[in-house]
Amino acid sequence: MAVSWVILVILVLNVVLVTSSPTPVNNYQVLAGHQVWRTEGEREAAAVMGRLEREGLVDVLGHGTVSAVRVFPESKDVVSASLRREGIKYQVVIPDLRSHFAEERRRVKKELLSSRQMETCLESDCPKPLTQRYMTFPEMEWYLHDLKARYSRVELKSIGKTFENRDIWMVHIKPTAARGTIKRDAIWIEGGIHAREWISEAVTLQLLDRLAADNTSLTRNIDIYSVPIVNPDGYEYSRTTNRMWRKNRSIDPSVRQDCPGVDLNRNWDEGYGVGASTNPCSDTYQGRNPFSELETRALKKEMERVSSTNNFRLVMAVHSYGQKLYYPWGYTREKAPYTAEMKSAGEAFAQAASVRGRGRRGTQYEVTSSSDLYLASGATDDWSKGALNVKYVYTLELPDEGFHGFALPPSHIKSASRDVWRGLKKLIPLAREK
Ligand code: ARG
Ligand code: ZN
Repeated sequence: MAVSWVILVILVLNVVLVTSSPTPVNNYQVLAGHQVWRTEGEREAAAVMGRLEREGLVDVLGHGTVSAVRVFPESKDVVSASLRREGIKYQVVIPDLRSHFAEERRRVKKELLSSRQMETCLESDCPKPLTQRYMTFPEMEWYLHDLKARYSRVELKSIGKTFENRDIWMVHIKPTAARGTIKRDAIWIEGGIHAREWISEAVTLQLLDRLAADNTSLTRNIDIYSVPIVNPDGYEYSRTTNRMWRKNRSIDPSVRQDCPGVDLNRNWDEGYGVGASTNPCSDTYQGRNPFSELETRALKKEMERVSSTNNFRLVMAVHSYGQKLYYPWGYTREKAPYTAEMKSAGEAFAQAASVRGRGRRGTQYEVTSSSDLYLASGATDDWSKGALNVKYVYTLELPDEGFHGFALPPSHIKSASRDVWRGLKKLIPLAREK
C-alpha cells in the first residue's frame, strides 16, 4: 500500500513535470509603460522612495546597494518632480517593462528549446524542474509530496488555505537521532512571502532536499520546519498576469476592491504601521489590521506552537534580491537583543556563502541591520524576535544585486542554492550553541 502510493506519486509527478509548459504564459500587457529608474545617493533616495511607495506612486524593487524603483505610467511626472525637489538624480534604466519581459521570455524559451527539446524530451534529458527552471505552484506541491515519499523523516502538512483556496504547506524534517525527553532545538525557514521573488521558493525547496538527505550532526536532535511557499496566490498571479506582483491576492470587501492584495511582510504585529502603507493600492499595504491575512495567521499559529514545544533557535525568511543578510530590528534603529551574536553568526554565514570573483562572477553577501537603509515594520523577522524571543533571526536577500533583479534566470538557481547551503551549514551550529 505504502509502496504503491510512492510509485503513484512518482509517476504522477513525472507526468506533471514533463508535460506542463516550462515558460509561464504571462500577460505583460499590465506592465506597458511602466519604467525602472535608478537613483543615486542611497540613503536620501531610500527615504524619498519609501514615502512615494507608501503613497502608491512607485514600487521599490531590490534592497541592495543600488536603488531601483518601478514607476507607474501615471505617476512619472509627480515622481520626477519630487526627485528634482529633493536634488536626487535618476536614470531611466528600463523604458518599458512590457517589452523588457517579452524579450526576456523569448530568450529563455529559445535557450530551453535549443538545448533540450521540451516537448519530446526523455526523462533523463528534460530540464530538471528543481534546478533548471522555476516550477509552477502545482509542480512545487508535487515536489513536496515527492520529498515526503522519499524520506521517512519528512512530514508535510497543510496549515491553512489562502484567499484563492490554495494550500499553505509546512514541511517538518524530523531529527535523525532524537535524544531523551529534553526540549529539542528547532529552526524555521520561510520562503516565498513575496510573489515575484521566485528564487526564494526555488532555493528553499533545494535546502529542504539537502536537509532531508543530511545524516551529519547538522540535523541531529533538531526539528526543522519550513513553509517554502507562503504566498501561492501571489506566486501564480506573478506567473500568469503580472511578473512584478509582490503582495497576496486577498480582497477586503470593506476597502476598495480594485486594489487587491496585502504585503504579507508588513502584516505581522511588531512595530505595525512603521514604514508601511495604509493605501491598499500600494505595494507595501499593511492590511486592515495586524494578522488580517490568512497566510500570516497560519504562520503565526504554527510558529507559536513550535516556540512552545521546542527551543526555537533560528528563523530565516528568504527573499530576493540584494545579496544581504539582515538582522532585526527593521522597524526601529534601536538595538535588538543579541545583536552582537546575530551579527557574528551572520558573518560566518556570509563568509561561507560568498563566492569570490570580480563583477558578475562573484557573489558577495553583506551582513547588516534591516533598518540600515529604511524602516519597515510588520515583518516575519521582527515578530519572531519580539513576540517569540528567537535569538537568531534573519531576512536573507538572495542574488542578484539588481542586474536581473527579480527576473533572475533559472540558470542561477543551482549556484544560489549551493551558496546558501554552505552558509547554512555554518550558521545552524552557531545558532545552536548555548
Ligand atoms: N525586503 C524586505 C522587505 O522589504 C526586507 C525586510 C527586512 N525586515 C524588516 N523588518 N524591515 O520586506
Ligand atoms: Zn521580499
